[in-house]
Amino acid sequence: MSKLKVAVMISGRGSNMESLAQACTAPEFPAEICVVLSNKPDAAGLEKAASFGIPTAVVDHTAFADKAAFEHAVVETLEQHGAELICLAGFMRVLSARFVQRFPHQILNIHPSLLPSFPGLHVQQKAIDHGVRFSGCTVHFVVPEVDAGPIVAQAVVPIEEDDTEDSLAARILAKEHLIYPESVKLVAEGRVHIDGRRVRISNGAGD
Ligand code: GRF
Repeated sequence: MSKLKVAVMISGRGSNMESLAQACTAPEFPAEICVVLSNKPDAAGLEKAASFGIPTAVVDHTAFADKAAFEHAVVETLEQHGAELICLAGFMRVLSARFVQRFPHQILNIHPSLLPSFPGLHVQQKAIDHGVRFSGCTVHFVVPEVDAGPIVAQAVVPIEEDDTEDSLAARILAKEHLIYPESVKLVAEGRVHIDGRRVRISNGAGD
């Protein structure tokens, strides 16, 4: 069985990348990470990726004249490594519509809220401040509008009375580490079908 080649794009810690890398160590997992690409040379996730024996690449956005030149270099790197699916995992640059359209339905992102609530940044604090009783995380396909694409998977996390941004973020992160590998597995098995805004998951028996 040939495995789906996944590129993971990071900017920092890389704990979601690590959960994907860990899942990929199982012989029966239908995907493998072909490259971990960071736009930050000092991203801690790069060392973690190397410790799994995964090729790493740095495409430093500050070294390019503009976003188009940066993204051109990113695309070249992804192509060199044969990426068939791109997983954004704490990648802190907004990708252009041109980039997104270059990889139709081939880019996933993980976001630490129950979208469409709380897109953007600092969303754990926003959920606490808004007074919602539940938050969670979302894996979705990337479309040009930020945090807005079709949803593959979500997990719910209750918000406790004494939660801080950090305590909530930690409980959400633990769920992120479960649903991202599960989502990649479904995509790699060819079971994920986009139907307008909805994502339908087939049972794998040819339905
Ligand atoms: C995660 O909370 C993810 O949902 C968000 O950025 C954070 C990245 O964390 N997009 P890590 O680098 O995967 O540890």
